[in-house]
Amino acid sequence: MNIVLTGFMCTGKTSVGKLLAKKLQFEYIDTDEIIESTIGLPITQIFERYGEPYFREIESKVVQEVSKKNNCVISTGGGVVLRKENMLNLRSNGIIINLTALPETIFKRLNQQPGVRPLLNKPNPLQEIKNLLEYRKEFYKDCDLQISTDNLSIEEIVTQIIEFVKKYELGNTN
Ligand code: S3P
Repeated sequence: MNIVLTGFMCTGKTSVGKLLAKKLQFEYIDTDEIIESTIGLPITQIFERYGEPYFREIESKVVQEVSKKNNCVISTGGGVVLRKENMLNLRSNGIIINLTALPETIFKRLNQQPGVRPLLNKPNPLQEIKNLLEYRKEFYKDCDLQISTDNLSIEEIVTQIIEFVKKYELGNTN
């Protein structure tokens, strides 16, 4: 069984995923990293040179491959939820955890890592975050557990996930 992390950009998937993998002694996989090494370019340049539809095609292929693995923490790009086929693949052997955050929190975190998120490279990034979140809200609900990360430390989020996974494996998630 894999643990899959979904969520909007800057919701903490990478930091949470790395600590979670360490604690569970699972392999940590980041689909964006695989895409970058497959194409040989950073995500921003893939978007610039080839456009978003091309990126989404590669993303789906990578998702299909990583979904076949076992005992991995899989951190996904924020838009992975938009394609049903991605979710079906990830769910085939995975528990899906969705990390959420308020637009203002995302905006603050975005400013700490400038220039790596092409979709938010807009004149008004906060408004763009709000627009995309609104559009994607329903897609992010397709998960086994949603955790709001605004007021939690990485450690606390990881603890919540581990507790949920234990219950999930016992067949009791209430
Ligand atoms: C995207 C999120 C990014 C990356 C790409 C598109 C999105 O990943 O896959 O820039 O559509 O939300 P992170 O969520 O890791 O930033």
